[in-house]
Amino acid sequence: MQKLNKIILYCRSGFEKECAAEITDKASQQEIYGFAKVNEKCGYVIFQCYQDNDAQTLVKNLSFRKLVFARQMFVAGNLLTDLPTNDRITPIIDVLSDCIDKAGDLRVEVADTNEGKELASFCRKFTVPLRQALRNKRILLKIANPSRPVIHLFFINNNCCYVGYSFSQNNSPFYMGIPRLKFPADAPSRSTLKLEEAFHIFIPYEEWDERLKGGLNAVDLGACPGGWTYQLVKRNMMVYAIDNGAMNEKLMSTGQVKHYREDGFKFTPKKHNIYWLVCDMVEKPTKITGLIAKWLTNGWCRETIFNLKLPMKKRYEEVKQNLQLLIDELHNKQINVQIQAKQLYHDREEVTIHVQRIWG
Ligand SMILES: C[S@@+](CC[C@H](N)C(=O)[O-])C[C@H]1O[C@@H](n2cnc3c(N)ncnc32)[C@H](O)[C@@H]1O
Repeated sequence: MQKLNKIILYCRSGFEKECAAEITDKASQQEIYGFAKVNEKCGYVIFQCYQDNDAQTLVKNLSFRKLVFARQMFVAGNLLTDLPTNDRITPIIDVLSDCIDKAGDLRVEVADTNEGKELASFCRKFTVPLRQALRNKRILLKIANPSRPVIHLFFINNNCCYVGYSFSQNNSPFYMGIPRLKFPADAPSRSTLKLEEAFHIFIPYEEWDERLKGGLNAVDLGACPGGWTYQLVKRNMMVYAIDNGAMNEKLMSTGQVKHYREDGFKFTPKKHNIYWLVCDMVEKPTKITGLIAKWLTNGWCRETIFNLKLPMKKRYEEVKQNLQLLIDELHNKQINVQIQAKQLYHDREEVTIHVQRIWG
């Protein structure tokens, strides 16, 4: 019987060190110890726990939503190597039949790298017979069930993979942890997808009608050319776009945008009915964090999504310090909030943070 003593985490290629530092830190806060194997630019991290069963405890108890740099997290055993080309399925079933039954979904995945992409078509083809075999053994339910665990196979090459599972209430619901979004042809910039992805990741779908509804007022700091404003306008919000640059003309012609050529750090809203503050200004993280804290403590917005740009070396530490700064500042002013942070698929050298004020 295979010991499932590893946590597999997918991340953006180039951010393996941050992902490794984060899992090591957050596992130790739960008194779970191990070591993270880091191969630069491979797009994943393996965290090996020292104690048997710790990986299974971690994958259940460590909140996936609280991980900034991981796109997906699942528990797995040792790498299965030299899978016979004429029967890769049997060794995989051997591992799974010992640790899971009636899973609700199957994902055959690869790293988000060029090497990974080359394996994608093999994975698609292999999924079909594997799914059937798992259903025949009742390891996988015949009909997908979103409340049951998810089986993950993570292929490193076509005869070598990690096999394991995640819990559907504590994982990314997306294949490879990546929401597939289509770039809208009329959007002014590609960064429009960052804000759209942030909505998918941070706001539960059943709350979109309330929290992303038409008629809400929004402020976009560092708005030009208007990719983020586009997402707000698309949802029929009224937007104050703050930036010295030029806004996309088509967006301006909607009549839903007021463009102020002002410094985003000095702009103060005249009205007290702003629901959303979004901010994509390129500035030092501490300066952005201070600005966001000011907006929240002054009660100028109810929710905010903003980016912290990370050109520095110690990126995990930088994010951690800024989150702590924000928490402390808001705590001192007795402002109750919910904070989430994630490096989104569409983020590059940056992370996205969401804060919602909570009353009562
Ligand atoms: C990354 S771009 C924003 C892209 C935008 N979110 C989009 O989707 O099209 C950063 C913008 O921040 C603006 N910016 C930088 N510092 C600023 C400041 N102090 N006040 C206002 N805008 C600023 C820049 O002019 C630039 O247009």
